[in-house]
Amino acid sequence: MEGVLKRLADRSAARPPAGGGSAASLWGDSGTPFHYHFTPEDFARVRAFIYRHAGIALAPGKMDMVYSRLARRLRAREIDSFGEYLKIVESGDREEVEAFINALTTNMTSFFREPHHFRILAERLARRPADRPATIWSCASSSGEEPFSIAMTAREAQQGNGPAVSILATDIDTNVLARAKRGVYPVDQLQKVPEHLRKRFFLRGDGKHEGLARVKEELRRMVTFRRLNLLDEKWPLRGKFDFIFCRNVMIYFDKKTQHAILEKMAQVLEPDGLLFVGHSESFHHTQEMFRLCGNTAYALRR
Ligand SMILES: C[S@@+](CC[C@H](N)C(=O)[O-])C[C@H]1O[C@@H](n2cnc3c(N)ncnc32)[C@H](O)[C@@H]1O
Repeated sequence: MEGVLKRLADRSAARPPAGGGSAASLWGDSGTPFHYHFTPEDFARVRAFIYRHAGIALAPGKMDMVYSRLARRLRAREIDSFGEYLKIVESGDREEVEAFINALTTNMTSFFREPHHFRILAERLARRPADRPATIWSCASSSGEEPFSIAMTAREAQQGNGPAVSILATDIDTNVLARAKRGVYPVDQLQKVPEHLRKRFFLRGDGKHEGLARVKEELRRMVTFRRLNLLDEKWPLRGKFDFIFCRNVMIYFDKKTQHAILEKMAQVLEPDGLLFVGHSESFHHTQEMFRLCGNTAYALRR
């Protein structure tokens, strides 16, 4: 759904402003005309900046995607060319750097995505002594579906007398974090949430909120949302985690960046903790740090 929304926004942003405009039109790599002046050199600057600041390694074929995602920033700032726009970003303008990064992240997610991880988590929490609180980090939490799925799993496993569970949910993208903090979702996005959990943990809106559902306070209390860039040298974290969900984010990084991040993750994972990664992310090159321990779940190698 997130991907669809971003694509729809992309399309409308890519449309030229009403009344035409003076910007030169070029042709994109799929043959579509560019309204704003956007050259291969501009694209190279975008790739270099997003790589340096977010670790995202954009493939050479993504010129059209970059154009459509950033065109709305040019329109918002009433700028005619990418060259001018990139000068602002490269000057370090905080607000624009944030908007630039937000525009270039891909935030596709859903409730209970890759459900086998939630089954492992439930089993582990059910076995855990009640006096051993559990800490969980969802390190690319997007709009909140992942951390709230973790919270539901924990509440179910706790059955009122299990260990206390706290969840830190972080992402680089401030737009998705704001959405996650609101905890309001279209009901058609709750399809993968089992009905008994939907009834227990969501409030259905009515009147002008018809078609929306809000996560109940009971779950929201368990999750703390913060901005954190995985590329930052220092992560502002306190203590270690029993479980880390690092899913479907490493695919945007190259091997060198992945390795550096996983080295730091190993430092913040409890010795008996588990790291969950996305189905397409296998880290054969990190065998000295982690060993596979179930389907895309990793444990520290001692
Ligand atoms: C495809 S979503 C995955 C969401 C969720 N983990 C899942 O599996 O459904 C990838 C998320 O990674 C975030 N991201 C990208 N680069 C990041 C970085 N350098 N630091 C932290 N988050 C980042 C994006 O903003 C996006 O929300």
